[in-house]
Amino acid sequence: MADYQYIKTETDGRVGIVWLNRPDVLNALNRKMVYEILSAFEAYDRDEDVRVILLAGKGRAFAAGADIEEMAEDDAVSMELLNQFADWDRLSLTKKPVIGAVHGYCLGGGFELALVCDLLFAADDAQFAFPEIKLGVMPGAGGTQRLTKLIGKSRALEWIWGGDMHTSKEAVELGIVNRLYPKDLLFKEAIQYARLLSEKPPLAVRLIKEAVHKAVDVPLQEGMYFERKNFYLLFSSEDQKEGMQAFVEKRKAEFKGR
Ligand code: CAA
Repeated sequence: MADYQYIKTETDGRVGIVWLNRPDVLNALNRKMVYEILSAFEAYDRDEDVRVILLAGKGRAFAAGADIEEMAEDDAVSMELLNQFADWDRLSLTKKPVIGAVHGYCLGGGFELALVCDLLFAADDAQFAFPEIKLGVMPGAGGTQRLTKLIGKSRALEWIWGGDMHTSKEAVELGIVNRLYPKDLLFKEAIQYARLLSEKPPLAVRLIKEAVHKAVDVPLQEGMYFERKNFYLLFSSEDQKEGMQAFVEKRKAEFKGR
């Protein structure tokens, strides 16, 4: 695995773990760090031994946002020339499931990173906010779009205009977070879930991810066609033959991801 400066990676069985590792600044996301996260996601996506990706933060926060110091002197043209958010966009092209385990601050760009995850588990101490308005700006890495799709226009406006902290309990109630755990159990529970998911047929897992994400963006009929193609596609896999044969033979299926 590559030598990273701002993240750490490790594997646990078939789970690839990415740790945000800039605890001195509450995992503030500078450009190199986002590039490293993307590199790790892409490497795990290509690695046949990894089936699920788990993203979590070292120190007392998941991530307190984009790195304000790095951004402070930016201007519109420099950001356009840099294609500032291209790496962010590529994060959501990850085919394998990404589980986020969030504790402490999950703010601004950190919240946007969490919203890229397919499922979110949170500690009871997690705090969510889009504080960009207090800096005279707004979310720029998908926050206005992804939060609105999740919780609706009125609530999203209230959260993003307000810029205030929201508890993990509120985030669960609104469907932003799947499950809530005491802080010291969060990682254990998240890895346990990731391990269970890594035992499921990997091709079905990724095509389900693709189809469910499609539902968020396209009209129903288009989504239905998309779902059908993925359903048919699975019938050309060895795992479909194995899964159905194992059912008939009353044994446990051995899925290979082919
Ligand atoms: N960027 C750069 N550094 C940050 C940071 C950020 N987003 N968040 C925290 N830090 C740094 C602090 O400057 C501090 O560094 P020093 O020790 O060198 O002074 C260190 O992390 C610890 O932070 P605090 O001492 O402030 O810790 P605290 O517990 O008192 O406060 C906090 C925590 C409320 C999260 C506060 O740090 C804070 O308000 N941070 C900024 C949050 C924010 O505005 N995030 C949005 C960024 S904009 C964005 O994300 C744009 C986008 O859409 C892409």
